[in-house]
Amino acid sequence: MFHLFRKDIEKHCAYCKSGSVINEGQVICSSRGVVDSAAPNNKERRPIPMNVSQVYAVYFSATGNTRKVTTTLANALAVSFDVPLEVRDFTLPAAREEAYEFAAGDLVVFGMPTYAGKLPNKLLDFVKSGFHGNGALAVPVVTFGNRSFDNSLAELCACLEGDGFHTIGAGAFACRHAFTDALANGRPDSDDMAELAKLGSAVVGRIVRMTEYPAPVTVDGDADAPYYRPLGLDGEPKVFLKAKPKTDLDKCIHCGVCASLCPMGSINPDDVTEVVGVCIKCHSCVRNCPMGAKYFDDSAFLSHRAMLERDYTRRAEDKIFTA
Ligand SMILES: Cc1cc2nc3c(=O)[nH]c(=O)nc-3n(C[C@H](O)[C@H](O)[C@H](O)COP(=O)(O)O)c2cc1C
Ligand code: SF4
Ligand code: SF4
Repeated sequence: MFHLFRKDIEKHCAYCKSGSVINEGQVICSSRGVVDSAAPNNKERRPIPMNVSQVYAVYFSATGNTRKVTTTLANALAVSFDVPLEVRDFTLPAAREEAYEFAAGDLVVFGMPTYAGKLPNKLLDFVKSGFHGNGALAVPVVTFGNRSFDNSLAELCACLEGDGFHTIGAGAFACRHAFTDALANGRPDSDDMAELAKLGSAVVGRIVRMTEYPAPVTVDGDADAPYYRPLGLDGEPKVFLKAKPKTDLDKCIHCGVCASLCPMGSINPDDVTEVVGVCIKCHSCVRNCPMGAKYFDDSAFLSHRAMLERDYTRRAEDKIFTA
């Protein structure tokens, strides 16, 4: 959590008396936008068209990293602008049955994980068709598991611009890999939170200075690049698209948690050993099973995971983009 204003420089909007903060010489009224503190008697007010009236945290997050990163940033932005925060979690299938509408005046932190160097393939259609920005500002963020975010952030930026959002800042944050605790365990950590705070400060600074819609944020990567091909211990590509989790029946207590949290709705709640639909290898069932009963035993998958554990234990850097 971070605050962009201090008590000793807080001011109130002379017009509506509502809570206002001062940032780099500008008074920002929570209901009227920017009010120029330098104007004589505060009579001349310069409301900007992108005045923020609502912050949203919107995310897909199978194992919790993206939820944490997205809600932390969105919460900090809501505090900074002194506006409400709403959460739109589209991880579960029921949340993807309808479209989400936003409006000018909304600031949307939109978070997705990196899968094979891009956005999760099975979610792509919904990201492209299920969100209507209608001129809202957006901060795309991706998480990645210590290998690389490759092209996922570029793809997310392109999707959101295509949805009618204006992207004004973006970031990629390294987090524990869904496949293994050997990569980035404990992340996002306090250093990652400091990077998130930096991104938040830059976004607020940009918005309060804004007098017209910004050019799309420029990020690393290529939205149209192909997916990363997972390699194995032998350096050869490994294909495990058809792999599905197994269930250790000696451990399973038939609680149904795995079925209720599968983002694809693919686990049969009446027999959790059955994966009846597509499996995206998200590891929600593995990570959320209270008994540690879910596991993958596909040899190609295990070889890829072992390669990651051998080659990608160094600390990957977060990266933020603000222009
Ligand atoms: C199917 C799959 C593919 C992944 N591919 C990558 C990748 O290409 N690069 C990377 O650094 N991390 C990769 N990861 C790790 C995730 O990006 C990382 O764990 C992310 O924070 C998970 O987000 P979540 O906790 O919100 O589900 C992958 C994870 C999964 C499940
Ligand atoms: S979450 Fe684990 S214990 Fe519960 S039903 Fe699924 S496999 Fe069994
Ligand atoms: S069955 Fe596959 S898609 Fe469903 S939660 Fe498990 S890993 Fe994810």
